[in-house]
Amino acid sequence: MNQPLNSKEPLIEIKNLFFTYEGQDKPTLNIPAFKVMPGENLFLFGPSGSGKTTLLECLAGVLQPNSGSLKILGKDLCLMKPAERDSFRAEHLGYIFQSFNLIPYLTVFENIILPLYLSPARKARLKGSDVQLVIRGLCGNLGIGDLADKKVLELSVGQQQRVAVARALLGTPDLLLADEPTSALDTDHREKFLKLLFEVAEHFGTTVVFVSHDRSIENLFSLSLSLQTINQS
Ligand SMILES: Nc1ncnc2c1ncn2[C@@H]1O[C@H](COP(=O)(O)OP(=O)(O)OP(=O)(O)O)[C@@H](O)[C@H]1O
Ligand SMILES: [Mg+2]
Repeated sequence: MNQPLNSKEPLIEIKNLFFTYEGQDKPTLNIPAFKVMPGENLFLFGPSGSGKTTLLECLAGVLQPNSGSLKILGKDLCLMKPAERDSFRAEHLGYIFQSFNLIPYLTVFENIILPLYLSPARKARLKGSDVQLVIRGLCGNLGIGDLADKKVLELSVGQQQRVAVARALLGTPDLLLADEPTSALDTDHREKFLKLLFEVAEHFGTTVVFVSHDRSIENLFSLSLSLQTINQS
C-alpha cells in the first residue's frame, strides 16, 4: 500500500512543458500548467492525434521534453539522467498500453511477473512478499483468478485487458497511466472493467490517469478534462 502524500502535494505537476517530435516544427505539447492530486481518477480526453499518448510517454519518462518541468512525487523527470528515469518509472509507475503489449505465448502469470525480471527496483518494492501469492491475489481481485496458468492467446480481449491491469499494478505503483485500454470493449463491459480498475487502484492507493477519445465513460471518473484545455499547442 502506498503512503498517502500530504494531501496538498500534487502527485503530478507540470510547468511550461514543451515537447516537439524530431523533424516537426510545431510542438505536440505546450502545457503551461497542469496538476494531478493523489488519489484522483483523471479522465483526459481529446481527438486522435491530439497528443494523449505523447503526454503519457512524457509522464512515463519514455519521451524527454525539450523544456519545462514535469514533477512526479516532487521529483523532476526532466532533470534525471536516463538510468534514473528508468528506475523511477519501474519503482513508481504502472502503464497500460493502447495495445496491452502482452506476450501471447506466455501464460497470464508469466506476463504479470515479467516486469519484475526486467526491473530490480520493482522487485525490491515487493521485498518480503510472496510474489506467487501477490500475483494470484491480484488475478483473483480482477476476476481472472482461474486463468493464471492459461496462455494469453487463449483469452478474450476483456480478459487480456485485466491481465494488462494486473501487470501494471504489480508492486503497487503510485501512478497508473492507461492509454485507451477499453476501446475494444462494449459499453457494459467497459463500465465493469473501469469499476474494477478503480476498486483495485483505490485499494493500493494508486492514482489513475486514463486517456481516451471516447467520452461515453467520463462520468465514471472523479475528474474529467479535455487535453485541449491544458495543451496550448
Ligand atoms: N514518433 C513520432 N514522430 C513524429 N510525430 C509523431 C510521432 N508519434 C506521434 N506523432 C504525432 O504527434 C501527434 C500526437 O500523437 P499522439 O500519438 O500523441 O496522439 P493521440 O492523441 O494519442 O492519438 P490516438 O487517439 O490516435 O491514439 C500526432 O500528430 C502524431 O502524428
Ligand atoms: Mg494514442
